[in-house]
Amino acid sequence: MKLLPDNKTLVVERANKVVYDCGDAMVKVFNTNKPAADILNEALNLTRAEQAGIAVPSFRGVGKEDGSWILSTAKAIGPTLRDMMTAEPDKLTEHLTILADVEIDIHKHTSVLLTHQKDKYARMISQVEALDEATRYDLHMRLDGMPNHIKVCHGDFSPSNVIMTEDGPVVCDWAHATRGCGGADAATSYILFRMRGDDAVADEFLRIYCERQGCDMAYVQSWMSIVAAAELARGRVAKKDLLMSIVHVVDYV
Ligand SMILES: Nc1ncnc2c1ncn2[C@@H]1O[C@H](COP(=O)(O)OP(=O)(O)OP(=O)(O)O)[C@@H](O)[C@H]1O
Ligand SMILES: [Mg+2]
Repeated sequence: MKLLPDNKTLVVERANKVVYDCGDAMVKVFNTNKPAADILNEALNLTRAEQAGIAVPSFRGVGKEDGSWILSTAKAIGPTLRDMMTAEPDKLTEHLTILADVEIDIHKHTSVLLTHQKDKYARMISQVEALDEATRYDLHMRLDGMPNHIKVCHGDFSPSNVIMTEDGPVVCDWAHATRGCGGADAATSYILFRMRGDDAVADEFLRIYCERQGCDMAYVQSWMSIVAAAELARGRVAKKDLLMSIVHVVDYV
């Protein structure tokens, strides 16, 4: 089966991949140096999330064409929440409430098969050379003390990954999914807004998430330094100063 047809339209181009609209499918074409394990992991996470009962784009297949691994999913039709936020900036609270509710709904699902969130963060913290040994030790200790939940966590939850279809929101881009604590996932969403420079939006999102979830803001904040360190491990060089400042925020939870 040919996953990448000749008739295709470019959707986004990133440093490590290109995404094409192929009519009824969306196809991600990764750079040739991207290991097969990463693509298979993303495909597995997507199908695990689907098995857990979450609305995701259906998996179409993984293949290799012209030396590049590709991942095909059925196209979910509709604007992304990011499109809607851009088109109607005056409806910020409404859109952030939808975003928070979709994230909270993901966390209502459990999966014992996804990677452990704490294992993944521990690996990532160990990799961050920008942090000195004492800071990494503190982060590992903090992580050790975090609860061992088995909630499905998206790991990269942002408005561009939520497609608003006629049948309801569909969530794409499961490359970073784990099982763990929803608070870590909410902290990730907050930091993703901060990395765009949308600080006020980040604060508003955090407020709405905690209100809708019924949790203390301090709970989400207790994950911030760990999640910021994990983002550093992803090589966010341009955001290093911001992420370092979040890692070093002292909280008293
Ligand atoms: N199955 C799908 N149905 C509809 N749109 C999709 C689908 N898969 C991807 N997209 C669109 O393509 C965009 C990029 O795909 P994806 O999020 O998987 O890659 P990404 O590199 O992580 O991009 P980003 O950095 O924007 O999150 C998404 O934001 C979404 O708009
Ligand atoms: Mg995405």
